[in-house]
Amino acid sequence: METLTQYSPLSIQGRVPTLHDSRCYRLSRHVQLRPEHDGFVAESLITGHCERLPNAASVRLLLSLMDPAQPGALLAPLDARRASVVRTFLGRCLEGGLITEIADDGTADEDGILSLAHWEPHDLAFHLRSRKGRNPRPVGATWHLADRLPAEDARRPEHGSVLGTIPLDKPDLDRLKAQDWTLTRALEERRSRYSIAPLSLQALAHLLFRCCRVTAARKEAMAGGVLRKVHPSGGSLHSLELYVVANRCIGLARGGYRYDPFAHTLVWLRQDDPDMIELLRDAQTATRDLKDLPSVLLIVASRFRRVTRKYQSLAYHVILQEVGTLYQTIYLVSQTLGLAVSALGAGDSDRFARVFNTDFFAESSVGEMIVGGAEK
Ligand SMILES: Cc1cc2nc3c(=O)[nH]c(=O)nc-3n(C[C@H](O)[C@H](O)[C@H](O)COP(=O)(O)O)c2cc1C
Repeated sequence: METLTQYSPLSIQGRVPTLHDSRCYRLSRHVQLRPEHDGFVAESLITGHCERLPNAASVRLLLSLMDPAQPGALLAPLDARRASVVRTFLGRCLEGGLITEIADDGTADEDGILSLAHWEPHDLAFHLRSRKGRNPRPVGATWHLADRLPAEDARRPEHGSVLGTIPLDKPDLDRLKAQDWTLTRALEERRSRYSIAPLSLQALAHLLFRCCRVTAARKEAMAGGVLRKVHPSGGSLHSLELYVVANRCIGLARGGYRYDPFAHTLVWLRQDDPDMIELLRDAQTATRDLKDLPSVLLIVASRFRRVTRKYQSLAYHVILQEVGTLYQTIYLVSQTLGLAVSALGAGDSDRFARVFNTDFFAESSVGEMIVGGAEK
């Protein structure tokens, strides 16, 4: 059975968290405060414990512990009834990891936990809140926003003006099934490769067809339709859209495109311009191994609501997992096509939203890959 102290930092050290009037405590460094309903909630990113702070006095009390204090000193001015309420509150805060004991040498209990030292708060919050266990919230396909937000269609509508539509060549799948590399060979020889050689539009078209096209679609009103592609997707929701920034792609004008995975076309959205160059420069600086701007930059964006409407607690987690499935698919197919591909860990989602005219919160970039032709 779960108890409040189960995940306490003191329990990790095999100790029982007990509040003593004469010892010193301060606010944990791993607390997040957020508004909820008509008050605030303080959440420990260590234990997952959430403490409701119903009024300004409780917020003030907790924040007063930014500087170490003894409960005895805090309780002294209070009458007996109020002192008892505050002591119980502080006891819960200690058990739940919201406050931490300070030793005589000034070090905090939680600072002695080495495995906490390597976490940035946003990573810890993400890990804790997107997994089951110490997460107090429901996790999974609860459709928690379905009655408040309309479903987003599986096929992305084009909101803005379009410069043109480029039909793309298709590979001969029957021939490939019979003659292409084996999976084992592709897996064993796959590497991240860095090349600034140009690639042909046909090679890009075949890469997109084999990795990103829609292979089946099914109406499912609740979800706005579900899709099948060659890579898997949580709930078959396929929120990912692929954008192409073409720089040295023979047969394709420099500029910004969106891949239409239903029609197997490139929708031309942006001319070559300084913003586009900055996207390419960002990609070049994300790797030490590229001597010039990449030939092609693939940007993976997510239409978040496709996933967030359905999956509670783990929507962004699922989206990033899906980016991984797409990355590996692109890696393997590129290997067989003789293209040089590398995933990139960092990208600028704001610049993406500016260049492709998307609403940052509705659809923005969650992954990037650079593609080059085979080096001669
Ligand atoms: C999620 C992810 C992010 C990556 N980010 C970068 C990056 O920003 N810059 C870079 O040069 N390589 C990046 N890489 C490529 C790795 O450096 C590469 O996979 C690693 O060195 C292992 O080499 P291999 O892919 O040839 O096996 C990334 C790979 C992955 C999977």
